[in-house]
Amino acid sequence: MAGDYRIAVLASGRGSNLQAIIDAIAAGRLDARVAGVFSDRPAAPALRRAREAGIPGSAVSPKDWPDRDSWETALFERIAAVAPDLVVCAGYMRLIGPAAVAAWAGRMINIHPSLLPAFTGLHTHRQALEAGVAEHGCSLHFVTTELDGGPVISQARVPVLPGDDEAGLAARVLGREHPLMLATLRLLAAGRIRLSSSAVMFDGEPLPAPLRLDSADLLHRPDLQPD
Ligand code: GRF
Repeated sequence: MAGDYRIAVLASGRGSNLQAIIDAIAAGRLDARVAGVFSDRPAAPALRRAREAGIPGSAVSPKDWPDRDSWETALFERIAAVAPDLVVCAGYMRLIGPAAVAAWAGRMINIHPSLLPAFTGLHTHRQALEAGVAEHGCSLHFVTTELDGGPVISQARVPVLPGDDEAGLAARVLGREHPLMLATLRLLAAGRIRLSSSAVMFDGEPLPAPLRLDSADLLHRPDLQPD
């Protein structure tokens, strides 16, 4: 199955979230197609994964452009050329400028490894360990010009356990990122999630708080879910 809903993935590195999307589509667990994979890094393993899956991949390196604006314009022109319904930033390690954010408002999401608004930016697992929180996790949010600051759609939580180190905690979170990504993409592809001004709408109503991924990898409204 590869449906009509077109996803462009923007990735700087490893691409395990991209792979989860590719695998889910191939297995008939997500009715969508990856229309293209884009990177700021020609050597990104995500581009190799795209190639192996027969998906068009494109590297647009800032080094090849005179300034940030012309580079980002070129990158988003290539993205627009595959006519995506949604741009998914999955391990894309750069801030997106105001022109691209405005052009793709409500059609661009990012996955971030923390329970936003906690721990924006880099080294979120280290930040969580240093803060001594009992719970950590990941969030999917619409992209705005504020770093990791756009309206949050959905979250998955994991416990922080005694003896955890950064790598162990990162692995536990990553294990929930992939199902969170897929469950959220299913709702987006089905048209059940939208951005209206600055509120996330779910089935036509403003979401009171981010959707939560449960142990069966389903998303639920938090106000309808026992704690
Ligand atoms: C993930 O932890 C994601 O939340 C963060 O960068 C990492 C990307 O991993 N934004 P991958 O490239 O999808 O494997």
